[in-house]
Amino acid sequence: MNIVRKVLVIVLVAFSLVSCKKEPEVILTPLEEKLASMTLDEKLGQMIQAERYSIDVTKIQNTNMGSVLSGGGSHPNPNTVQGWLDLTSDLNHGALSGSAELPLLYGIDAVHGHNNLKGAVLFPHNIALGATHDADLLERIGKATAVQLKATGISWDFAPCLAVVQDVRWGRTYESYSENTDLVSSLGAAFIKGLQSEGLMATAKHFIGDGGTVFDDSKNSYMLDQGNVTLSEAQIRELFLPPYVAAIEENVLSVMVSFSSIDDEKMHASKYWITDVLKTELGFKGVVVSDWEAIHQLPGSLLSQVAASVNAGVDILMEPNAWRDVLGALKRAVENDMVPMSRIDDAVMRILYVKDELDLANFGSASLDDAGDKALAREAVAKSQVLLKNDGILPLAKNADILLIGPGVNNAGLQNGGWSFSWQGESTGLNFPNATTLLAAFTEVATANGGHIYTDLKDASKADIVVLVLAEKPYAEGIGDTADLSLTGALAHEGNFDAIKQAQLTKKPVVTLLLTGRRLLVDEYLEDWDALVASWLFGTEAQGVTDVLYGDLPFSGTLSFTWPKTTDADQTSSMLPNRDMTKVQFDIGYGLTISK
Ligand code: GLC
Repeated sequence: MNIVRKVLVIVLVAFSLVSCKKEPEVILTPLEEKLASMTLDEKLGQMIQAERYSIDVTKIQNTNMGSVLSGGGSHPNPNTVQGWLDLTSDLNHGALSGSAELPLLYGIDAVHGHNNLKGAVLFPHNIALGATHDADLLERIGKATAVQLKATGISWDFAPCLAVVQDVRWGRTYESYSENTDLVSSLGAAFIKGLQSEGLMATAKHFIGDGGTVFDDSKNSYMLDQGNVTLSEAQIRELFLPPYVAAIEENVLSVMVSFSSIDDEKMHASKYWITDVLKTELGFKGVVVSDWEAIHQLPGSLLSQVAASVNAGVDILMEPNAWRDVLGALKRAVENDMVPMSRIDDAVMRILYVKDELDLANFGSASLDDAGDKALAREAVAKSQVLLKNDGILPLAKNADILLIGPGVNNAGLQNGGWSFSWQGESTGLNFPNATTLLAAFTEVATANGGHIYTDLKDASKADIVVLVLAEKPYAEGIGDTADLSLTGALAHEGNFDAIKQAQLTKKPVVTLLLTGRRLLVDEYLEDWDALVASWLFGTEAQGVTDVLYGDLPFSGTLSFTWPKTTDADQTSSMLPNRDMTKVQFDIGYGLTISK
């Protein structure tokens, strides 16, 4: 055989040996297979979240949009369980009809029950639930909230807020369980456990430092909201990170980024905190969602805003209005190599992971359990009441003749506060048809026991006692930022001033209830009041308040925040090493009981 043939034979033999050397077979998981099967457009569509009002079934189908949200107060017409089910199932059908054939995630802020659904039973806001210190209760509320949402086809709750709020002047103080990190960790994790046990996706928000911004008195609104954190990294880690660690231990499936900044770096552009800390160091496996159009606050063009936030680690872009422009910018960012395909694949794999975890294909509905929710909410209300003063007048006698005065007496809008039927809340009870007001709750007890309830000052002489019900106007987010913590200040209800005077003029013993989302200044009034109760924004079930006032249940609530004595009270938090105790009215943990 000539040399050529020999070489040829050697080459052929070598080739056959190499080619038949079995490459280790790469076995893809089903999710990896799904990812590998998706086109770029299908992947990018999954990363977009529009608002209900700016899309329709066809747009979802054509873009393979991965999720839709209802912002505060956004609801279908009719605003009924069936109206919601029709909406969510139609939009989901549109998603499944898309080429990616993936189910839709529908997100909403159910922050104290299904607060966009007219007639739903609403629980106390987080500041009240913090006063219960009851993780088991929070787990049950999370579960009940999930059932309410599931009944309307909603799979994603932008809750709980894990802010560890340090400044009482922030408009989102009532969305926080406490100024104490450990209490926020335990209650937040419990709520997540309850909510996700029913197959809903919870959201730990807002990452990170939302409750630690510096008061900016150069502004007359949004003085704190979406502001700047100037604490050291060590302080930030100590104060604000543990609730996210606890949430991840509960396998929280989503995290929402904060509007705020750290040292003037917007969180939505912080690769360090979102990717290096949250995803890599803490091992978060779920999806990171941006806040409402928050990426538009980043510097530069839309293209650079999209690239910066996605490269920082944002997986889903909450774009209620500009979703089509953002989708186009995202595609251009990939095509121009501003965002690597590896980042897109990581984001989409996370989206596939949470959709698989939620078992959306079998996302059954549920039916509202109003009776069960009312009982649970009433229990939560009673446990959240904090008795701050009692000169022996409580518990009330059930046959007492009582004069109720003040803006909160018969107003379900004021007892619910913000994020209730509408984003900023309601000034009347019109849209809470199933709520029980304090007037109804007092009347129920008095009528059954031979007592009388009056609401007109002319009947003052007939009353043994006055119950003074003061309130704040409803507010949400930066709209609720204030430099004035007085009971007759800008965000206090305008009826407070007269009611306080009227109560004084009756010369009767006075029990004061505060329907407020934060601790307001009471020092100048305390000696005029025989009893004082922080009733908070307690939701729709006022009998929980009368249960403790009449002694059917004990007062057990204790403050989860320091109560300030002055407005400039940003240095009173119990988490600060050098807190100014001269500005403290009641310390965290304070709450009286009534011995039998
Ligand atoms: C709001 C809030 C956030 C909420 C989101 C969707 O701006 O910051 O808490 O989840 O938008 O409503």
